[in-house]
Amino acid sequence: MTPPSKELADVSASERRDFLRGLSAFALGCGLAAPSRAIGEGKPSRTAIATALHRAAHQLLDRPVVFDDPYALRIVGAERVRRLALNLERYQAPRARAMRAFLVTRARYAEDQLARVYQHGTRQYIILGAGLDTFAYRNPYGSALRVFEVDHPSAQAWKRARLREQGIDLPRSLTLVPVDFEKHALAARLRQAGFRHTAPCFVSWLGVTMYLTRDAVMQTLRFVARSCVRGSEIVFDFSLPDDALAETERVSRAQRAARVAELGEPWISHFDPAALAGELKALGFSEAEHFGANEANQRYFSNRADHLRWRGSARIMTARV
Ligand SMILES: C[S@@+](CC[C@H](N)C(=O)[O-])C[C@H]1O[C@@H](n2cnc3c(N)ncnc32)[C@H](O)[C@@H]1O
Repeated sequence: MTPPSKELADVSASERRDFLRGLSAFALGCGLAAPSRAIGEGKPSRTAIATALHRAAHQLLDRPVVFDDPYALRIVGAERVRRLALNLERYQAPRARAMRAFLVTRARYAEDQLARVYQHGTRQYIILGAGLDTFAYRNPYGSALRVFEVDHPSAQAWKRARLREQGIDLPRSLTLVPVDFEKHALAARLRQAGFRHTAPCFVSWLGVTMYLTRDAVMQTLRFVARSCVRGSEIVFDFSLPDDALAETERVSRAQRAARVAELGEPWISHFDPAALAGELKALGFSEAEHFGANEANQRYFSNRADHLRWRGSARIMTARV
């Protein structure tokens, strides 16, 4: 890896700090160590930056794109794009490619599901743990779809500042809702933000459950099951427990887990898919179905000359009220 100091000679101290954080976040995908720093006190979520950088790299590297996001580069900022362009080969390492395939799959799948429920009349979209998600800024349904971006207050404040910096306006259809899933009542915060409990909603919750306590995960799922009307739906991803993983996957995940813990955002919750599907039914969901790499590769990555594929043990769950 190129030492960052050489490339950073011409940038300010704060840009340098920011870039070093970005590199630490990139370590999620390619095995580099990083100093400790958690979300909070006006800090961004570094895992959110990491996933956004993978989506940005996807726009530059992969053809055809699986997740077409014209805002993916803009949202990460010109300086990060410049660094990304200088370091693109890192994103072509096998582990980074597999990670990128997973991240674009879950983003594409959620928006495919949203398109389907929109056709059936759903007009509210809640993006939980939104990070640098850009749907709200390229919303193809315009003012017909109300969007609620929910995120940790610090991470959201940081995103708001980035949007301002990039000249990206907050559309009238978007409401930002600051929520710490471990501390705040999601239902009350959404109600205050104008969410209508009497109308169906679509919820995406991508890349978040593994960072929360099991109680916080269940509380949020309970909110959807019990407070959202019939026809509402949630899509979320989750990671499998250690005993469901093959030995090589367990070792590789333990290494990645140690690195995200160093970033201050440790993975703390894992779920068995069948048991989770049972729990979702018990919470009141009428249907729960999950899929993983095999199904996703068939749906989104078949017949590609570049052989981009999702490898790994994460799962994506869809649950309907
Ligand atoms: C890996 S990022 C995923 C972001 C985005 N969903 C994506 O796919 O790019 C994790 C997100 O979870 C949010 N998060 C983590 N812990 C949280 C908490 N306790 N309350 C609210 N949000 C939290 C972070 O702020 C961050 O936006």
